[in-house]
Amino acid sequence: MAMSNDDQTRELLHSQAHVWNHIFNFMNSMSLKYSIQLGIPDMVHNHGRPMTLSELVAALPMNPSKSHCVCRLMRIRVHSGFFTKDKVPGNAEEDEGYLLRPPSRLLLKDEPLSVTPFLLLILDPILTKPCHFVSDWFKNNDLTPFDTAHGRTLWDYVGHEPRMNHLFNVIMASDSRLVTSMLVKDCKAVFEGLKSLADVGGGTGTVAKAIAEAFPNLECTVLDLPHVVANLQGSYAVLLKWVLHDWSDEECIKILKRCKEAVPSKGGKVIIIDITVENQKGDDDHESIETQLCYDMLMMALTTGRERTEKEWTKLFSDAGFSDYKIIPILGLRSLIEVYP
Ligand SMILES: C[S@@+](CC[C@H](N)C(=O)[O-])C[C@H]1O[C@@H](n2cnc3c(N)ncnc32)[C@H](O)[C@@H]1O
Repeated sequence: MAMSNDDQTRELLHSQAHVWNHIFNFMNSMSLKYSIQLGIPDMVHNHGRPMTLSELVAALPMNPSKSHCVCRLMRIRVHSGFFTKDKVPGNAEEDEGYLLRPPSRLLLKDEPLSVTPFLLLILDPILTKPCHFVSDWFKNNDLTPFDTAHGRTLWDYVGHEPRMNHLFNVIMASDSRLVTSMLVKDCKAVFEGLKSLADVGGGTGTVAKAIAEAFPNLECTVLDLPHVVANLQGSYAVLLKWVLHDWSDEECIKILKRCKEAVPSKGGKVIIIDITVENQKGDDDHESIETQLCYDMLMMALTTGRERTEKEWTKLFSDAGFSDYKIIPILGLRSLIEVYP
């Protein structure tokens, strides 16, 4: 049946709204960045009761001529679920003030599990620049859009830029605290019975340290150099946290084969912590899957790697010669995967 003029108009406007939403989506990330750089989550948190707009404006280190913008910045942050508004008793002029919602707790300065450094890194112009080169990279021979934009690999860049290197290390350490607190609480069985564990690409060693503390009989080693996988002999388990998504299938197969050689065929295993795309089963499926798919796009822009579905993981494990695996989806957007020789 042909659409009426009204239906066509409605559909057109709906389509325009959908496209605009995607065009402007980056302002959600950017306004989150501004609010952190201005220290707003900490100010609201430290205030101890709902913080009115005038109290927030007075607390912000800003040029007074810009004060009318604070309300607009807070409007989108409230809409995105980072703040809420609550009644301020006894204030005749302003009867509402801002309070933190749970996601903002992860943005506080003194929060050990803070994701602020992660946000500042991902939205740093060094990492967003390659996103403008993806279509060029589709046509050229460069390894990654990051190489097209910066003339070298991400790892080379980070290794030569103390600011980036520091941010990277802070992020990995903070994420590792979050993940290990869950591993040690909910995944004890994964580590029980192991004698030794090598954390390959283990950064500054936060995960290995926390696992060693939780399992004093487990000898933990951290390896974070290009040639390290060759020196793995003698480990009962190899941990690859947030590592394989940095590498192509070919590179992952090489890494996994080395890991398989290193662990005993009986009782040995490789423990992977990475995204399994579309493993979400809760009410917030849509947002979680979108986040996983966006992360995959970022890996395309920055590295030779990718985020993988269960089917893609299965193929990788089989190509590397492993006999079986188990995916334990207990880490939110990421899963813990045990792979057996
Ligand atoms: C995304 S980080 C993950 C760090 C750590 N596993 C964690 O989750 O906190 C990837 C790590 O791989 C390391 N890396 C990069 N290239 C490497 C290579 N060729 N061999 C070993 N490690 C490498 C980096 O230095 C970095 O620490």
